[in-house]
Amino acid sequence: MENGSQSHRVSTSDDVEVSTYLEIAKELHGEQPMVEPKLLPPGERETVVVIDFGSQYSLLIARRIRECHVYCELVSYDTPWEKIASLNPKGFVLSGGPASVYQSGAPVAPTYIYESHLPVMGICYGMQVIAYQLGGQVAPAEKHEYGHAILHISVEDCPLFAGLPTSLPVWMSHGDQIIEMPPGFRALAYTENSPVAVIGNDDSILGLQFHPEVAHTPQGKQIFENFLYQVCGCQANWTPSRFVAESIDKVKQQVGKGKVICALSGGVDSAVTATLVHRAIGDNLTCFFVNNGLLRREEPERVLNTFQRNLKMNIVYVDASERFLGRLRGVTDPEKKRRLVGKEFIKVFEEAAAKLGKVDFLAQGTLYPDVIESSSAAETKASAKIKSHHNVGGLPTKMKFSLIEPVRYLFKDEVREVGLALGLPEDMVWRQPFPGPGLSIRIIGDVNKERLEILRAADWIVMNEIKKAKLYRQLWQSFAVLTDVRSVGVMGDYRTYGYLIAIRAINSNDAMTADWARLPYELLDRISDRIVNEVPNVNRVVYDITSKPPATIEWE
Ligand code: XMP
Repeated sequence: MENGSQSHRVSTSDDVEVSTYLEIAKELHGEQPMVEPKLLPPGERETVVVIDFGSQYSLLIARRIRECHVYCELVSYDTPWEKIASLNPKGFVLSGGPASVYQSGAPVAPTYIYESHLPVMGICYGMQVIAYQLGGQVAPAEKHEYGHAILHISVEDCPLFAGLPTSLPVWMSHGDQIIEMPPGFRALAYTENSPVAVIGNDDSILGLQFHPEVAHTPQGKQIFENFLYQVCGCQANWTPSRFVAESIDKVKQQVGKGKVICALSGGVDSAVTATLVHRAIGDNLTCFFVNNGLLRREEPERVLNTFQRNLKMNIVYVDASERFLGRLRGVTDPEKKRRLVGKEFIKVFEEAAAKLGKVDFLAQGTLYPDVIESSSAAETKASAKIKSHHNVGGLPTKMKFSLIEPVRYLFKDEVREVGLALGLPEDMVWRQPFPGPGLSIRIIGDVNKERLEILRAADWIVMNEIKKAKLYRQLWQSFAVLTDVRSVGVMGDYRTYGYLIAIRAINSNDAMTADWARLPYELLDRISDRIVNEVPNVNRVVYDITSKPPATIEWE
């Protein structure tokens, strides 16, 4: 479509000219006539729908909204209205995206967004989409604007800016700008480089050129709160206890008198999943806990204690450690270790489940980022495989059960909150991530009992000291690695030739990138001292000071 042509306009009011544009736009995008919006009665869970145009920050937008205790879902820009209507939408947020809206084939917003007369907030590309579809013009800016800017608010009465100062720091990242305002809109704020940094009309359609969702916009949360509470009228009733009540009801309805199985890993996702299902159906749930011989010290005992004794769940404990260690004998290749552990886990799980007789459902702790990742464009992008991850959330779909995924729409921090609301022990709720292949990928080279014991002893000390220093929760992960390096040392008057232990401690938000943690020297000193004194056959300790990238978090 030519830049400047107005055939892309869609309506936000009843005027005849605009509705003509709407018809043209619908034909152009091959859309079906819209079904009358049938909104759910008030009191139902309310949703703000985030329309994804492929921004790297789309997930962050969703997280910010949830942090404001408003339920939201991230959906693709071509999602049909029927799906949206069932969510009881209270407003829309249009994400940023890499495209330029005036280029052919660039994604635009479905017209039901404007026809619904619900509030809309477009962010970056999302704002340009609004301008473009509603009759304005967007063109390349003279220079790309990237980084910090000061936003100056030029109106007094806009609810989006309630409680904010007239100037505030914001984060910009765009190459296009609005050069002609769509009819009915006015500029509400500007920056030095963007005369139109925020737009709005009387129908509560708003556009922000900057990114309120990133940490570099410090007052971003207030902007989201203003949009959600003041503009959309949301009630901030998305809370852990509400989620618990809703999901227990849902599981009850879904399962009826059916039988459910669930694999526990000891981590928070499967723990919360099992607890929710247990609250809903009691003894019709059977959990499996497989000891693969690659767990940390006292881990099997602790998991069993929590679920069997405290939560009174039906648990089948399978000690398959010999089986796993047998398979791993002589295997040194990291990918081979992962595959072996993954495959063996599925075999053990299938065998144990088969003994139960008829089972109808499998409960899994799939989280929202996994759902989005596997349904978004990200998956189809060519990306080199670095490691093949395996965990108990990833059982094969060939298993003949229906799936129940009660935490499918939750982020990790929400799962933790739900875990606390369910009364799970804090050390389970706040457990740092632990990989499915367990200690096998923290032992470089051959995995055997002797080496596992050395690593367990060293890891125990790391964990113990990190917890004593009150750093456990704030670190994403902290652990020991047993390397295959041996070095010479001296103890008393004797020469030693012992193992090298590496300590890894990192900060991260999502494990995609990570920064090595600047642990206090005194703490490192204590850890090192204890390891060489308390762990037999170890005479040297090093601290890993590489970030990800270029390193990964685990050594294998
Ligand atoms: P990397 O080492 O790839 O790790 O930087 C990223 C995050 O994933 C965890 N990890 C795994 N988790 N199965 C899992 O369930 C695996 O095979 C696996 N490998 C790594 C790792 O601990 C970190 O949190």
